[in-house]
Amino acid sequence: MDQGINRIVIVGAGQAGTTVAFGLRKAGFHGDITVVGEEAHLPYERPQLSKEMLQQERPALRPMKAHADYEGQKIQLNLGRRVVDTDANERRVLLDDGRAIDFDRLVIATGVKPRQLPDSLHDPVRVRYLRTVDDADHLRADLEAGKSIAIVGGGVIGLEVAMAARAMGCTVTLIEAADRLMSRSVDEVVSRYLDQAHRANGVDIRYGVQAIDLLSDGTLKLSDGSIVPAESVLVGIGVTPNVGGFAHLGITDAAGVRVDPCGQTAIAGIFATGDIASQPHGTGFGRVETWANAQDHAINLVRNVLGESAPYESPVWFWSDQGHINLQVVGNATQGTRVIRGDEHGDSFSVFRLDEQNRVTGCTSVNAPKDMAVARRWVKLGTQVDMNRLADTAAPLRNSAL
Ligand code: APR
Repeated sequence: MDQGINRIVIVGAGQAGTTVAFGLRKAGFHGDITVVGEEAHLPYERPQLSKEMLQQERPALRPMKAHADYEGQKIQLNLGRRVVDTDANERRVLLDDGRAIDFDRLVIATGVKPRQLPDSLHDPVRVRYLRTVDDADHLRADLEAGKSIAIVGGGVIGLEVAMAARAMGCTVTLIEAADRLMSRSVDEVVSRYLDQAHRANGVDIRYGVQAIDLLSDGTLKLSDGSIVPAESVLVGIGVTPNVGGFAHLGITDAAGVRVDPCGQTAIAGIFATGDIASQPHGTGFGRVETWANAQDHAINLVRNVLGESAPYESPVWFWSDQGHINLQVVGNATQGTRVIRGDEHGDSFSVFRLDEQNRVTGCTSVNAPKDMAVARRWVKLGTQVDMNRLADTAAPLRNSAL
């Protein structure tokens, strides 16, 4: 297995990077493992930031592993440090404190950062983003005051924060540039459901508008001229890849660091995983910004880093918890023939998507985790189904498979 691999450097101490580090030891790698991460906190999984950590009974941050685990596994952690340059020929990375670390294999797991509003809307106190534990702490403090909050972006982050803010008694306005919620990833039927659920919960939702001016009287001016209350502003308008330190290597694309099915870049021995990886996806390449990808792509990558050729293939799957709503998405949930199972005006239903051969290619479930368990298997296997039986809740879902 060693193939002259003695030193592995992992850049990025998030879920994917940490999973690779411990995975390498589990796979029997005995050489040096060095992890470099920008945040000072022990690596943690991010879903808790927009969920548990914004609740009334704010629990403490749960790190993935304790200090003792890194010591026990001889994984060298360099926290609060960034890689600023990489020499692919010399096989060396340079840190922001001037240190150079040599590698035989390099794993880029630097993730993404929130896309920013224009500079004119920059205000480090009033305008928040949510990506790190420090961000979550600041936002949580804003919500506690029970003030007004304007949320820019009706995606996963915006909607999870909207629920948390309402639970805390805040006045919430949500500003979405598109004409529906979570348009990137869910079916229109589910967007309509979310619209009604969040409105019923007291959220004022504005579509097709942008934030244009932060006014000093605690309000925000929108592109249609309207003014909304905004003692604080939370922005969740998507993300951009952290490619600094690697941009000059010729291995990046618009989405991130381009990798092949085995997670390797165009430079042999340099890999990428997690949110930063622009991986084969559908008919092209793209980021897969999910907890499951950070876990499973990273676990699979270990074998490739150690010299095997193990292509990764797994349907996209993610979940979002918005108050009483458990939303789950698998595969491509926005294209293909739509079949609704359950009452889309009720509080539990699933929207399946099928291709021309009636194979299940995607599904969004709303408070229907059992449907999702089946849908995940079907999407993975490309199972053909009977459309009528699929829509018939009187019959067990699994009986729809042909
Ligand atoms: N003003 C208002 N809305 C905007 C603007 C803008 N200027 N630009 C984009 N939007 C909207 C998009 O139409 C979309 O509905 O913001 C939403 C962003 O949603 P996502 O792409 O899901 O991004 P976000 O919610 O920020 O989540 C970021 O965190 O949990 C992860 O998986 C999640 O990777 C995602 C990341």
